[in-house]
Amino acid sequence: MAALKVLLSREDIAQKVAEIGAKITRDFAGESIVLIGVLKGATIFLSDLARHIELDASFDFIAVSSYGNRPSPDQELKAGWDSTGEVRLAKDVDQSVKDKIIILVEDILDTGLTLTYLKQLFLSRQPKELRIATLLDKPSRRKLALEADYVGFTIPDEFVVGYGLDYAERYRNLPDVCIIPRD
Ligand code: IMP
Ligand code: MG
Repeated sequence: MAALKVLLSREDIAQKVAEIGAKITRDFAGESIVLIGVLKGATIFLSDLARHIELDASFDFIAVSSYGNRPSPDQELKAGWDSTGEVRLAKDVDQSVKDKIIILVEDILDTGLTLTYLKQLFLSRQPKELRIATLLDKPSRRKLALEADYVGFTIPDEFVVGYGLDYAERYRNLPDVCIIPRD
């Protein structure tokens, strides 16, 4: 595999994450919030973001899996991968979200299938407010119209890893967001 190329440096990411944290702090001044991270990719973003939010906050985590035959990592890298749209909750939150302010925290908004499903699911539980924070946004791949409330970086249609994002479960621990060249 060709060498990884840095797209977003750890310094760029740290600055942006601090800005998003400050914005959330202003938006919900005086309130309590629940940060809900989507496992596993959002864990690093959530843990850094949370430390820039000066509010009463708690954490929760969910896991999703998609139906459909996932291609080999190699094919996924070349052509991307769209789930069939059938997303399933593999791990639910531990607390009720009714009447709470919840922020879904995701690593990347790609086709939009995952977050559209999660948004509908959590809205049906009647939170006081639901917001979406994503570190990365690839709008060129969108299949369902969905915008996040807090976006770190809008990126081109490249396959990226690092800062929580994986390729076949590897590279999540890289401090920078890097592109895996497709050729
Ligand atoms: P969506 O339902 O297509 O928006 O899927 C979002 C999910 O696809 C993310 O949570 C990631 O797990 C995965 N994903 C999409 N693009 C990338 C990428 O460039 N690198 C790593 N994972 C990705
Ligand atoms: Mg993910």
